Amino acid sequence: MKTVIISGGTDGMGRETALRRLDRGDDVIVIGSNEAKGRALVDQVSNPNLRFLRADLSSVAEVERVVREVSDRHESVDALALFANRLNRRRVETADGLEATFALYYLSRYLLSHRLRPLLDASANPVIISVAGVGLTAGRIHWEDPQLTGKYGQVRAQLQAGRANDLLGVAFAEQCGGRARYVMYHPGFTRSGLDNAENPVTRGALKLLGRFFARPVAESVRPVVEWIDRPPAAPLTAVDRGRPVDPALRTLDSADAKRLAKYTETLV
Ligand SMILES: NC(=O)c1ccc[n+]([C@@H]2O[C@H](COP(=O)([O-])OP(=O)(O)OC[C@H]3O[C@@H](n4cnc5c(N)ncnc54)[C@H](OP(=O)(O)O)[C@@H]3O)[C@@H](O)[C@H]2O)c1
Repeated sequence: MKTVIISGGTDGMGRETALRRLDRGDDVIVIGSNEAKGRALVDQVSNPNLRFLRADLSSVAEVERVVREVSDRHESVDALALFANRLNRRRVETADGLEATFALYYLSRYLLSHRLRPLLDASANPVIISVAGVGLTAGRIHWEDPQLTGKYGQVRAQLQAGRANDLLGVAFAEQCGGRARYVMYHPGFTRSGLDNAENPVTRGALKLLGRFFARPVAESVRPVVEWIDRPPAAPLTAVDRGRPVDPALRTLDSADAKRLAKYTETLV
């Protein structure tokens, strides 16, 4: 039995991963911000190995609380699977004064990866899997204004945080030197999260496109479910829709990764 932590495990691909790992007998902790959704999942699954932790992961204090709660109950963690994300049509600032997409999609992954490292290092075969958009080259870190105070756009924020997650994987594998292997995975257009766009026109268009072009959720998470049993041997693995990503891709630049890690440390 493995201990698996899933951020954004109450819906979409995170939820499916949780269900498949429960099928294999794991102890699974899912994190989401919506109490009702989490409770409904627990009631539906009715499996004592599933635990729901309600937390708003866009808050640094909430992430720290999750880390404390997990550390109080577990001596080791075998897998940390990172899915949590949310689209924000308008710029939202968190209680920490950060742009919400940056805080949730990137910073919560940074904090969970680093703060849970001692528990991951205590596992025989630990892995961190970050599900985002590795391999895409659109978007960049807006070094001059990472919190997007001057010019905000939903896509701009998503792409920046996506590229930040690419650099997080690079920095973690290069600098942390722990046992946990880091896997970055771009699942491609998937039939999940399509109801979440705030704009009804975008939502409708996504759902329609999703019906014809998106992959079933179960298919998209299949590699994630397998990596938890058999983490890749390399410290860093990046897979974009089934294909390995060239480590020389400019979005995986080591100097940028160090620069972002330094900037992130100033925030936390
Ligand atoms: N779907 C696609 O086509 C696609 C393609 C490429 C990459 N991806 C990436 O894959 C990942 C998973 O996507 P998905 O489609 O499965 O997402 P989804 O169905 O929208 O699920 C998102 C999860 O994040 C949680 N979440 C949102 N805000 C949160 C917060 N403030 N604190 C804690 N948890 C929060 C949600 O739970 P609550 O509602 O309970 O908070 C939910 O469990 C995302 O990072 C996405 O960017 C998706």
